[in-house]
Amino acid sequence: MTTYEVHRGRGSFNAAFFSVMGPYIEVNLRRRKRRVFAGLPGTVVELGSGVGANLRYLDAGSTLVAVEPNPPMHRRLRAAAQRQGVRLDLRDSVAERTGLPGHSADTVISSLVLCTVTDPAAVLAEVLRVLRPGGTFRFVEHVAAGAGTPTRWLQRALRRPWAWTFEGCSCERDLAGLIGAAGFARVELEPYRLHTPFVPFNTQIAGVAHAPG
Ligand SMILES: C[S@@+](CC[C@H](N)C(=O)[O-])C[C@H]1O[C@@H](n2cnc3c(N)ncnc32)[C@H](O)[C@@H]1O
Repeated sequence: MTTYEVHRGRGSFNAAFFSVMGPYIEVNLRRRKRRVFAGLPGTVVELGSGVGANLRYLDAGSTLVAVEPNPPMHRRLRAAAQRQGVRLDLRDSVAERTGLPGHSADTVISSLVLCTVTDPAAVLAEVLRVLRPGGTFRFVEHVAAGAGTPTRWLQRALRRPWAWTFEGCSCERDLAGLIGAAGFARVELEPYRLHTPFVPFNTQIAGVAHAPG
């Protein structure tokens, strides 16, 4: 059974980090986010909402069902939802087991979360369980670089301090492969590269996966 281990110190550090670095991360990701998060419906399920980086992609008056098990994120997330005029339905469950009813959501979104969850395959199975037939999972995630490349080498070399600092985050996951094998009817996926100083984070994918209709 997947549970979430709360680290008060690192949880607070990460909440502060993503608040301070949020605008910089957003500048780097917004081109892809604008594309995959375009036209979100009035109710959206988000996995790992953090401090609310994606609230800006919801219309005022929408509802965000935020699956965020990390309590240090919650105060900033609530405040951001209020500023944005988005109703927040905050669940402190894990993305592997959201507790949401089956076939209850038109859209599930995530950004920079499948790198950190304990079991990304279980999360994708949960997304498919929760989505209505034909619903979409829209994501922007960072992934392992190609085998044998300098970035892949750095991802491996830094894996321990990176995971310690960012609460279990791995830069070595083949998330495109996992999403492709999860059982979606169709996956539109764009691999791309950022050019930030956070080199292990620069290899990314963005896309939309469609649940069977
Ligand atoms: C790198 S942060 C990204 C936050 C936000 N999505 C963003 O783009 O700024 C990863 C988030 O995933 C959350 N998280 C970690 N494990 C999780 C799990 N098993 N289920 C749901 N969320 C999880 C963390 O608490 C954190 O808020």
